[in-house]
Amino acid sequence: MIAAGERATLMWASANRDEAVFGGADELHLDRDPAQNLLYGRGIYVCPGARLARLELSVLVEELLKRTDKIALAPGPQPTIAVYPASGFSDLPMLIL
Ligand code: HEM
Repeated sequence: MIAAGERATLMWASANRDEAVFGGADELHLDRDPAQNLLYGRGIYVCPGARLARLELSVLVEELLKRTDKIALAPGPQPTIAVYPASGFSDLPMLIL
C-alpha cells in the first residue's frame, strides 16, 4: 500500500512484462494487442514523442528488411539484459547479412 504523500517509481518495463497480460514475455508474438503496451507511458505520463518514435522505428525496420537477407544472434557471447533504468539489452551481438 502506498500512503498519501509517499513517492513511488513506476517501472514501465516491468509493467510490459506482466504475465497476467503478456504471457511469454521473452517470446515474439506479432498478434499481441498493442493497446495493452505501456512502452510510451499512459495518461498524463504518456510520451509526447511516441508518434515520431513509432515512425522512426517503422522506417528503420522497413529499410533494414529491404537491405538484409538474414538477421540472427551472433554465435559466441550471449546477449546481456540491461539493468534498470535502461531496458532491453546492453549487449546484443548480431549477425546482419
Ligand atoms: C522508443 C522511443 C521512446 C520511448 C520508449 C519513450 C518513452 C517515454 C515514456 C514512457 C515517457 C513517460 C515517462 C514518465 O513520465 O514516467 C516519455 C516521456 C517523454 N518523452 Fe519519450 N519515448 C520515446 C521517444 C521519444 C521521442 C522521439 C521524443 C521527442 C522527440 C520523446 C520525448 C519525450 C518527452 C519530452 C517526455 C516527457 C513528457 C512530460 O514529462 O511531460 N520521447 N517517453
